[in-house]
Amino acid sequence: MEMGICYGGVPTKIHNNTMGIRGYDFVEFYSGSAKMMAYWHAKALGLDIVAYKGPETGHRDRTSYLLASPANPQFKILITSALQPSTYDVNGFQTRHGDGVKRWSVEVDNVEVTYAKSLKNGAVPVKEPHKISDKDGYVEMASIRLYDDCEIVFINYDNYKGLFQPGFEPPHFKWEINREETNLKGIDHIVGNVNINEMDYWANYINRSLDFETFVHFGPGDISTQYSALLSKVVRSKDEIIKNPINEPYEGLKKSQIEEYINEYHGSGIQHIAIMTTDIITTVTNLRKNGVEFLSSPPDTYYEAISKKDFGLTEDIEKLKENSILIDVEGKGYLLQIFTKPIGDRPTFFYEIIQRRKGASGFGQGNFQALFESIERDQELRGNL
Ligand code: FE2
Repeated sequence: MEMGICYGGVPTKIHNNTMGIRGYDFVEFYSGSAKMMAYWHAKALGLDIVAYKGPETGHRDRTSYLLASPANPQFKILITSALQPSTYDVNGFQTRHGDGVKRWSVEVDNVEVTYAKSLKNGAVPVKEPHKISDKDGYVEMASIRLYDDCEIVFINYDNYKGLFQPGFEPPHFKWEINREETNLKGIDHIVGNVNINEMDYWANYINRSLDFETFVHFGPGDISTQYSALLSKVVRSKDEIIKNPINEPYEGLKKSQIEEYINEYHGSGIQHIAIMTTDIITTVTNLRKNGVEFLSSPPDTYYEAISKKDFGLTEDIEKLKENSILIDVEGKGYLLQIFTKPIGDRPTFFYEIIQRRKGASGFGQGNFQALFESIERDQELRGNL
């Protein structure tokens, strides 16, 4: 192990919110095969395997792979599989949902304080504050409920000097992987899909528990195609470091993509994670070379309409079109975004790649139409439209 590298936590302790939240820490998936899912994240998404926990480190019930981005080691994905029939938390999740996000975490100044405040304001407890320790110190964490089967973890690494968390060691193996660099910089936002009539409930729950605020609200008719529609609310921390859009299916002529998710995931949960980049054209070009599949292109008319607008686009529109990257103009700023196809077998979890320009702060509302039409083409192939 290289001395001094610690993947736990976020680099800056400065923040401006009442809950002491410093920023996103790790996101943990439960998977049927952590090794293969970790390999996909290494080969296709361009992350490095940096820490491991499993039988080789004395853990016989589960195995976990921690992946981090070479462009920003604080962007971390943890992937865990059960090794025993009695690994109930993982097996129960797997049986119902397949592969998916079990928890996302934020580093906080003081776990006990954040946890107590959240409970006082209505959060449902999952795990009380506790410390896990080894020779390098201790990590403190606690968690609260989110959606049907997900959790938000409050964690603090101030008293830990080890690689990631107690129990994790440098990988005992090395994969020789040929891949293009993807320059992934961190989590921009994490989106949940919830059941009909639950959006307001979960938006209020998060706003109260974490002292967040509702940023935007898309009602009936705002986001729809001929076939399907959704309602959407974005809640975020008041300093905007944590952004959490929530979608709910809304009645359309046919089955909405949110409804398809709920049916196939068997409940509410995390729909996608948006990852920031500072050069989306290179990132997407390289992700494609690595084998990542993206949603199909919007029609040519989409780019023709954009090219007529004068908003100071820095990128070459032909390159954006070649890569099917979507553009949403927002006042003086704009954002560039693209969505992968679902990464697993079920049409549930996918990634978004996003680049914000000139202070754009939205989520691509102007692209929802194009995005929906693209998803509907895939839904039709699955017989779910
Ligand atoms: Fe998004």
